[in-house]
Amino acid sequence: MKVVLAFSGGLDTSVILKLIQEKLGAEVIAVTIDVGQGDDAIELEKKAKELGAMKFFCFDCKREFAARYISKNILANGLYEREYPLSTALARPLIAEKLVEIAKREGADAIAHGCTGKGNDQVRFDLAIEALSDLKIIAPVREWGLTRDWEMEYAKKNSIPVSKKIYSIDANMWGRSIEGGSLEDPSFEPPEDVFLWSKIENEKDKIIKLEFRNGLPVALNDESVELSTLIESLNKIAGSYGIGRIDHIEDRVVGIKSREVYECPAASVITKAHFALEKLTMTKWMLDSKALAEQKWGWLVFNGLWFEPLREALDEFMKKADEHVNGSISLRLGKKSFSLAGMSSDESLYHKEISTFEKSSFDQSIAKGFIDLFGLQSVMAEKRDV
Ligand code: ARG
Repeated sequence: MKVVLAFSGGLDTSVILKLIQEKLGAEVIAVTIDVGQGDDAIELEKKAKELGAMKFFCFDCKREFAARYISKNILANGLYEREYPLSTALARPLIAEKLVEIAKREGADAIAHGCTGKGNDQVRFDLAIEALSDLKIIAPVREWGLTRDWEMEYAKKNSIPVSKKIYSIDANMWGRSIEGGSLEDPSFEPPEDVFLWSKIENEKDKIIKLEFRNGLPVALNDESVELSTLIESLNKIAGSYGIGRIDHIEDRVVGIKSREVYECPAASVITKAHFALEKLTMTKWMLDSKALAEQKWGWLVFNGLWFEPLREALDEFMKKADEHVNGSISLRLGKKSFSLAGMSSDESLYHKEISTFEKSSFDQSIAKGFIDLFGLQSVMAEKRDV
């Protein structure tokens, strides 16, 4: 039996790598997908091989992740429960897609992942793998009831190197999530040491400029750059101000509530800038309906339904809706916060000539009739009830 394992080098997947060989007598192909988590591929390869992996692959999918996944999130202003920019959720279907590709190429029988039976990632991996293949799925933590203590003990016995980390961390270029340990108590403020990408190094305000084409950022400070590069730069710039921290209670797919802490500097800045430009360039009807579609989109992506036709249909809508979202926007970065610092667009629907408090060509006298017709039924209904 040949198994492709999604390998991160952490405790779970290291233990699993060995256990699969031991319990199932299988050969393991360890695979790491680089979506900007910042791990060292050489170190990972060394670790995987030491644990007995027959082969190790690491694929750099950063550009693809930005182009095919994050871009859709940007157009959809993708947020779950109004706060979480869906970073982990977005990367899972891409990782699954690559695992399936490798499994087919290598003639593997199964794909293994280290997800627990309590989380969202098992749903995302399983549904994506099922949608794209008929491969068997092995989830040892869930199926064999592995606990952290048992894993630590097993690691010690098998001389598997483990770090003493207390948090469960997942990262990619769209954000870093930190769960577990002392954070499981929502009354406890996240200590500074949980943050890695948003350590405060700058306190002096700075203005940055983003340019958008068809709803997507294409230039940073007047320099045209590819999306993945722009995101990585922005993570560094905004992160150095402590921008992008999120701390909320989140509803998991399986119904459990969890306390989630994130740092998403680029995602926070881009999402806010993008929405601001949408409000400058979109009709009120479009904004209104798009908000409903966005909520649905975020719900689907969070819940692991990336391969659902509705998500694809909504993406077509977002693309069409954003075709006039062109322009540039400046943002003032300061300690732990940022604000808009001016925007402009050739396709703006804001016209000072009409909106001004000063004299303008807008004929105010037409408003009266409009108001009476606009509220006709509501006024009648209210009067009926009195
Ligand atoms: N709550 C987030 C989500 O479901 C983050 C999950 C992080 N995953 C992890 N294995 N630590 O998308």
